[in-house]
Amino acid sequence: MEVHLPEDHAARSLAADARSGLTATPKSLPPKWFYDAEGSELFERITRLDEYYPTRAEREVLDERAGEIARLTAAHTLVELGSGSSEKTRLLLDALRHNEMLRQIVALDVSETALRDATAALHTEYGSAQVHGVVGDFTEHLGLLPGEPPRLVAFLGGTVGNLLPDERAKFLRAVRDVLEPGEWLLLGTDLVKDPDVLVRAYDDAAGVTAEFNRNVLRVLNRELGADFDLDAFTHVALWDPVNEWIEMRLRATRAMRVRVPALDLEVDFDRGEELRTEISAKFRRETVADELAAAGFTMERWWTDSANRFGVSLSRAD
Ligand code: AVJ
Repeated sequence: MEVHLPEDHAARSLAADARSGLTATPKSLPPKWFYDAEGSELFERITRLDEYYPTRAEREVLDERAGEIARLTAAHTLVELGSGSSEKTRLLLDALRHNEMLRQIVALDVSETALRDATAALHTEYGSAQVHGVVGDFTEHLGLLPGEPPRLVAFLGGTVGNLLPDERAKFLRAVRDVLEPGEWLLLGTDLVKDPDVLVRAYDDAAGVTAEFNRNVLRVLNRELGADFDLDAFTHVALWDPVNEWIEMRLRATRAMRVRVPALDLEVDFDRGEELRTEISAKFRRETVADELAAAGFTMERWWTDSANRFGVSLSRAD
């Protein structure tokens, strides 16, 4: 386990994000703050909902293609950005191990506890490989990744869609910069489709996504001493057809003043005012290939699930 962040990094960056987001017009918060223990649990429940297809669609692709990915990349190191615990990672690891290529596993995650559990489990299951857990933020700390080349960096789940276009370009560039020519990026991207299907995936009938969305306020209450009344916010999920992304917001059902003692800040909401909590961009094959090319990758393979809902690309660093 390698901790590359100062002890108070998370607290400082939450405080900075909350201050800038809550004082901006319109108000916003970055989606990474959803994922405390409860938020991670809610996200797990989301992945099992009928309406939330991306997890299953991506798994279908990896189930079918893991062997091919292992053969093409001949990777000695799998670097997973985000949760190293997912069963999708295991599909890749099993395929790499089957070809007797797997030597190192590197998992990078912001959550030290999630990472500790994930790396311990990986160590048990893939004992012959060296397991490194790196605590860090994939938008800031890529330079620290260890691992024996050729490396395969996996960024799954469609999480790249949570970045704004300029952040995305920067992120892909940063991944490219840590790789040597010939190393690999496996990227999961949710695809543009019928807006009704998309909106239902982010506004499920059971209200799990609504709870997940409001959980970010619970995080601010706990970590910053804020007094958000969660019941005074309704969940909003809408499709932006120009930007081709889903936007999640929290809408204030009444005018209110929220105190945030740790920031020495008071935040006023008008009735009906919305706070943006997430964008989840949806992609097309050509735009993914173009963005990868702009970052210095060549897309070598593109696979989708049988219903064409989700794309997985395998690219080689130029
Ligand atoms: C795991 C970040 C890709 O954007 O679809 C699920 C998170 N947000 N439901 C996504 C999420 C609302 C998810 N990612």
